[in-house]
Amino acid sequence: MTTPENTPETIQPMMATRNLSKRYEDGVLALDSLDLSVNPGQIYAMLGGNGAGKTTTINLFLNFIDPTEGEAIVDGIITHQEPLKAKAKIAYVSENVMLYPNFTALQNLDYFSHLGGKTSYSAEDYQKVLLRVGLQEEAHDKKLRSYSKGMRQKCGIAIAILKDAPAILLDEPTSGLDPKAGMEFINLLQDLRDEGKAILMSTHDIFRAKQVADIVGIMNAGKLVAEKQREELVGEDLEKLYVEYMTGYMDTAVQATDASVTVG
Ligand SMILES: Nc1ncnc2c1ncn2[C@@H]1O[C@H](COP(=O)(O)OP(=O)(O)OP(=O)(O)O)[C@@H](O)[C@H]1O
Ligand SMILES: [Mg+2]
Repeated sequence: MTTPENTPETIQPMMATRNLSKRYEDGVLALDSLDLSVNPGQIYAMLGGNGAGKTTTINLFLNFIDPTEGEAIVDGIITHQEPLKAKAKIAYVSENVMLYPNFTALQNLDYFSHLGGKTSYSAEDYQKVLLRVGLQEEAHDKKLRSYSKGMRQKCGIAIAILKDAPAILLDEPTSGLDPKAGMEFINLLQDLRDEGKAILMSTHDIFRAKQVADIVGIMNAGKLVAEKQREELVGEDLEKLYVEYMTGYMDTAVQATDASVTVG
């Protein structure tokens, strides 16, 4: 039976921001009243130039920093009010994955799984997930010190999968991956989405964003300047759209500067 609780319109987002703003101590307004949401089974890709506020958004979800205004919410939990409870719901892979260089991949997986309270995984489970992310068997017993950036990235993704959290945050996840690994990674994200995970990622890769995302958000100077659903992007040249939004912003900025010069 369809009740108001289970109609699609009332799905509770797994991740959301409400009027989320961040002004850093030095006065930079890095994020300006951001409102976005990601449902279970959705991939949201944030695009935007350097300094647009993408990493700031992710760091606010993780409560690495406190918001100046508004809130980031994970599974109904306001992250800055209950950071530990919120973190338990999130798996996170940063651009520069921080793992133990003197541990092998298997040891890193074991260490981080135990740290996250998952104590029942076997060596076979670790091997399976490493193969799933595209790390060949001969690498599993090698110390991370000898890994390339892309290999470390894959290891980080394996740890995120083992955490089995409903929300996944990825900051430029394909930046260290070669084209083949990038494609495999996109397939992996699609699998995770199909398992019902909510995924929020930042990327500079417009091509991959269009390929994988259910929603693409374009950010500029801390503002979400455009948001497009997958259906709206069919037949659209996302790269052109992106440049138009960037140029549109630049025009506005130039006008604002001109105006202040005129007034001043
Ligand atoms: N710790 C900090 N202290 C002060 N300002 C910061 C800090 N971190 C980021 N900023 C500023 O906030 C703004 C947004 O930065 P952010 O790192 O969120 O951008 P981004 O979209 O992730 O960029 P990129 O694509 O280069 O990774 C920038 O102006 C940046 O200089
Ligand atoms: Mg960033």
